[in-house]
Order: sequence, then structure tokens, then C-alpha cells
Amino acid sequence: MPGITPPDPDISTLLNDKLPVVNETLTRLLAEQTQIEPDLKKALAYTLDAPGKRIRSVLLLWCCELIAGSENSDSRVAAAAIEIVHTYSLVHDDLPAMDDDDLRRGRPTCHKAFDEATAILTGDALLTLAFELLATRVASPALAVKLITELAQACGPAGMIAGQMADLRAENTAGTIEGLEYIHINKTAKMFRAATVMGGLCGGATDEQLEALSQYGMKIGLGFQIADDILDVSASSEQLGKTAGKDVEAAKCTYPALVGIEKSKELERTLANEAIDVLSGFGDSGDRLRQLALALLERTK
Ligand code: IPE
Ligand code: IPE
Ligand code: MG
Ligand code: MG
Ligand code: MG
Repeated sequence: MPGITPPDPDISTLLNDKLPVVNETLTRLLAEQTQIEPDLKKALAYTLDAPGKRIRSVLLLWCCELIAGSENSDSRVAAAAIEIVHTYSLVHDDLPAMDDDDLRRGRPTCHKAFDEATAILTGDALLTLAFELLATRVASPALAVKLITELAQACGPAGMIAGQMADLRAENTAGTIEGLEYIHINKTAKMFRAATVMGGLCGGATDEQLEALSQYGMKIGLGFQIADDILDVSASSEQLGKTAGKDVEAAKCTYPALVGIEKSKELERTLANEAIDVLSGFGDSGDRLRQLALALLERTK
């Protein structure tokens, strides 16, 4: 790939760059919430402290940096908000009524460490808190409304929730490529698109820049979920920090189940190349996003 120096760094090395900023912001914003009921606060801290990859939040910061030259206070709040919404989605995804998982980010899932009711309320609390933070901590009200709209559309009933619903409905069915695309676009890719667009908005991107970031986010988001499905059948629970082999057990509709591993990998590569192509207008400053698209092809967790 022109302009990219081999060997490509792995995904953790790349993300490490902004991990401290994301983690410090999450810790600070949670510490500032002094009115949270104490048992709930323990569960919130437990889920937010767990070592997630923080990819959506780091991506958001990078996209702000790409546009404005550096990240800023608004992008840090937005990064925390998207990470909090993502974390809520995992807490609920793991519930017995959904994927029924015991292990998440190398630790017992929230409903195992606490109880089911606490996990439901923890999810509710995280989701609500994220929007409160955007409404109260972003400097300009006009920007806050744009960020809230972007995130709500990505995680709401015409986004992630739609994808999660379709994912559950597709269990134990033969499934179609169109149906699977719908699931992946909604349950995962729209949150990646929200990350890139929100980062762009925080940096003051033009409509043209936002469009490129939007397309890039969607493509790597789709590739990310294909890789997640591949890793579920090819990696170990220790490696993933979550139970491997769950998709086959639950008869989920996935790319490996539908088209096999090789075709799934091919599709992932095509999406990465397309993601790189839409960045052409950014010149060399888009290299980190190009590297990320490539590094995601090699991810092992
Ligand atoms: C897991 O997301 C859920 C999917 C959409 C595949 P991540 O793989 O980003 O999970 P964490 O945040 O690193 O735990
Ligand atoms: C979940 O997809 C996507 C979310 C919106 C949380 P998965 O159910 O495949 O995610 P994992 O494998 O449990 O992390
Ligand atoms: Mg799921
Ligand atoms: Mg799951
Ligand atoms: Mg999965």
C-alpha cells in the first residue's frame, strides 16, 4: 500500500497512542458523578474499568486530530460518550436473555459479577449518562446537538438496537447475505461510523470530509464485525477475553457460517481496501486511519 511503512503495527500498538486519554477521561467523568446510587456506581466502575480495546473512542479522537491537527476537550467528551454507549451494549448483549455470556473483557460479565437486575440497570445508566455528558460537557450547544443526534441514530432503534433485534431473530435460521449485511451494518458498523463522524464534527470538518469519514467508518465497522465472527470460531477465550465458540453454539447467522472463513477474510480485505480508498483526499495525514484499516485485518482479539 503506497505511503505505509511496513511492518504495519498491530492494533493494540496503534490504539495505545490514545488509550491513556480515553481511560483518564472515563475515570474523571465517572468520578464527577457524585449522585449515583453507590451499588450502581460499583457496577458502572466495574464495567467501565475493564480493559476494552477502546477502538471506537480512539478512532473518534484520531478523526478529530486528522481534521483539526489535535484532539480537543469536546472530542474527549464525545470519545467517552461513545465508549460508554458501547460498554452498555456489551452489558446487555451478554445478558441471559440475549447472548448469555459469562466472560467479557477477561472478567465475569456484569450480571455474573453482580446480578441480572443490576446489569440491566447498569446498561440503562450507562446509556443515559452518555447523552447527559454530551448535553452538558460539550462547549457549544450546536455541536452538542449534532453529536447527540449522530450517536442516538447509531445506537438507537434504527441502528444498533435494530441490528441486535435482527441478530437474535436470525438465530437458528438459514440466513441470507442480505439479512446478515443488515445485521452487521446496524449492530456494529453504524457505531464505527458515528465514531468517525463525531470525531470529524469535533474537529470542524467540512461536509466533504465528513462524507469520507462516514464511508471509512462504515467500511471498517463492517470488516470489524466480520473479524469478530471469524475470531469467534478461530481464537481462544483466553485470547479474546470472552467465550469463544458461542456463535456456533447459539446457531448465530455469521459470515463464517454462511460463506466460510476464506470468503469472509476476502470480504474483510476488500472492505479494508475500500476504506483506504475513500481517504485519498486526506493525503499523508490519513496514514494512521489507513494503518488501522490494515491492522484490523490481522487482529487477534
Ligand atoms: C465487541 O466489540 C462487540 C462487537 C461489536 C463486535 P469490541 O471488540 O470493540 O469490544 P471491546 O470494547 O474491545 O471489549
Ligand atoms: C454484538 O455482537 C454487537 C453489539 C452491538 C454489542 P456480538 O454479540 O457478536 O459481540 P460479542 O462477540 O458478544 O462481543
Ligand atoms: Mg450479540
Ligand atoms: Mg455477544
Ligand atoms: Mg461476536
